[in-house]
Amino acid sequence: MQDFNFYAPTQVVFGKNSESKVGELVKKYGGTKVLLHFGGQSAIKSGLLAEVEANLKAAGVDFVKLGGVVPNPRVSKVREGIDICKREGIDFLLAVGGGSVIDSCKAISAGRYFEGDVWDLYLKKARATKYMPIGCILTIPAAGSEMSDGSVITNEEGWLKKDYCVNEFRCKFAIMNPERTYSLPAWQTACGVTDIMMHTMERYFSKDDDMEVTDSIAESVLRTAKSQVIKVLANPTDYNSRAQIMWAGSLAHNDLTGCGTSGDWATHNLEHELSGMFDVSHGAGLAALWGSWARYTRNENISRFVRFAVNVMGVEQDFHSAEETAEAGIKAMEAFYHSIGMPTSIKELIGRDITNAEIAEMADKCSNYGQNTVGCLKKLSREDMVNIYKMAR
Ligand code: NZQ
Ligand code: ZN
Repeated sequence: MQDFNFYAPTQVVFGKNSESKVGELVKKYGGTKVLLHFGGQSAIKSGLLAEVEANLKAAGVDFVKLGGVVPNPRVSKVREGIDICKREGIDFLLAVGGGSVIDSCKAISAGRYFEGDVWDLYLKKARATKYMPIGCILTIPAAGSEMSDGSVITNEEGWLKKDYCVNEFRCKFAIMNPERTYSLPAWQTACGVTDIMMHTMERYFSKDDDMEVTDSIAESVLRTAKSQVIKVLANPTDYNSRAQIMWAGSLAHNDLTGCGTSGDWATHNLEHELSGMFDVSHGAGLAALWGSWARYTRNENISRFVRFAVNVMGVEQDFHSAEETAEAGIKAMEAFYHSIGMPTSIKELIGRDITNAEIAEMADKCSNYGQNTVGCLKKLSREDMVNIYKMAR
């Protein structure tokens, strides 16, 4: 078991009507003037935004609104947010939405006091030293940003998608009302569950084989997400199943399922180039790549893939062939992705064949032109990245 440092400071307020606590929570964490940050239409249409505004007013908390965050959130919107915070004397950031809105808030938080351009933080050219506090009302279980230390932003100039991770990005509070996720379309629900499962799998598939408690938690998160999404797709207003998925989403990415493991993260790195370049949903991009990554790397630690096949996918173990069992597990996962409407190839994802030039460009960006590797189970070179993208095409 690897040494670890587990830090999950976010206050989670979970359940029906939990958004009614928002004004109180903002004040508890020192907010007097809030940037109320949200996405396109969903929070307006559902009435959630109006309820939040009324609640903040009743609590005597001033606010300025900034909507229009798009999936794969853009650095231009972040810069707009930073300007507003400076101009208006904002002291607290409140995200109403999913990973994209929360990540945009995190970027604003880092950029607010930083003297240079916020994008330099994502290029790892500098580190910010002072951050604004953030709270969120989560409307889609998926990215896990409500408890994570990460933020992923896309720069429209060059379509680069980069992350920046610091503990200061962990939300002060996360309000989660499963009822607020009833309005999610089936596709978004499935993309979210795929991302939740992948956050667990990125930590699960490692070289380490000796962290039983972490593995058992991870397998439970995976089995839960997998079984509950089927129920939710059949009945979108099934409160209990929506709630299981929502909590699984936070546990999958607050590092609990990574305690003691070195983790991998190659599929995420490879996917960020796909969603950066083709503006596709992150979860769907992960589903399109995972099977190819798994086949490419499984012999690095075949026992993990066997354990996954048996304990998560319910495959019967072939005691004569670990490879056969591992492959049956990968196939079962791909069949599951298809059953919830997810793609398992890039062609299914983008609706056309990807070109060799596009693959080369993604591999260049992902490897920083051959300078970096990604992944831990197997350290992937630029050539490995090209091979996996080609397997997934
Ligand atoms: O913009 P609106 O109209 O709100 O619509 C959103 C958006 O189109 C919609 N939606 C959200 N809640 C809804 C709803 N529609 C109906 N009813 C609701 N209750 O869903 C769409 C997707 O929203 P988005 O926030 O983009 O989804 P998600 O939470 O999956 O976030 C994806 C982003 O997070 C990044 C991804 O790369 C991607 O950019 N990630 C962030 C991570 C982190 N910060 O730790 C880790 C992840 O691995 C991931 O990379
Ligand atoms: Zn993810």
